[in-house]
Amino acid sequence: MDIVEHILLSEETLQSRIRELAAAVSRDYGDETIALICILKGGLMFLCDLAKHITSPVTYDFMSVSSYGDATQSSGVVRITKDLEESIEGKHVLIVEDIIDTGLTLSYLLKNLESRNPASLKICTLLDKPANRQVEIPVDYVGFEVPNEFLVGYGLDFKQLYRNIPYVFVAKSHYYQKDN
Ligand code: PRP
Repeated sequence: MDIVEHILLSEETLQSRIRELAAAVSRDYGDETIALICILKGGLMFLCDLAKHITSPVTYDFMSVSSYGDATQSSGVVRITKDLEESIEGKHVLIVEDIIDTGLTLSYLLKNLESRNPASLKICTLLDKPANRQVEIPVDYVGFEVPNEFLVGYGLDFKQLYRNIPYVFVAKSHYYQKDN
């Protein structure tokens, strides 16, 4: 694909690390049921692959919190566009995210979900981009620390496209710069 500058994380690299994360999660939770909360839309691919390899009992539910819209920079505006269907009161909740960038989305989500009285609340993110962090976030499971580049694929979109690509790539700058 022309938009690919270079592949940052291959499918094999992603899948191998996701298996390790699932093993760590399974060890930590044991026989406790984990309420996986997938943050749409980016977290969907990661949720599917992670959940396949978790040996603890799991449920999942979905939430959509929008901070970016179609822009490539964080607006700092966070709003719930789809809420959970199930109560999380008394449950062991694990938030499943594709990426933490500024931290604004998770900062809001942590406060919001904590107020619903879960038994525990942890975060599992596939990618962590610390360069742009505006709020400190206590992350429990991290797949990869990534550089401050425009990343696309495996859940991450460019204009809603390429989320289905099984690897993470750096996009050519002229694709997104002409939109700013
Ligand atoms: C992305 C990503 C995180 C958030 C991280 O979601 O999935 O939820 O941004 O950024 P932050 O740490 O700067 O808040 P986005 O709002 O782009 O929605 P999407 O998952 O539907 O693409």
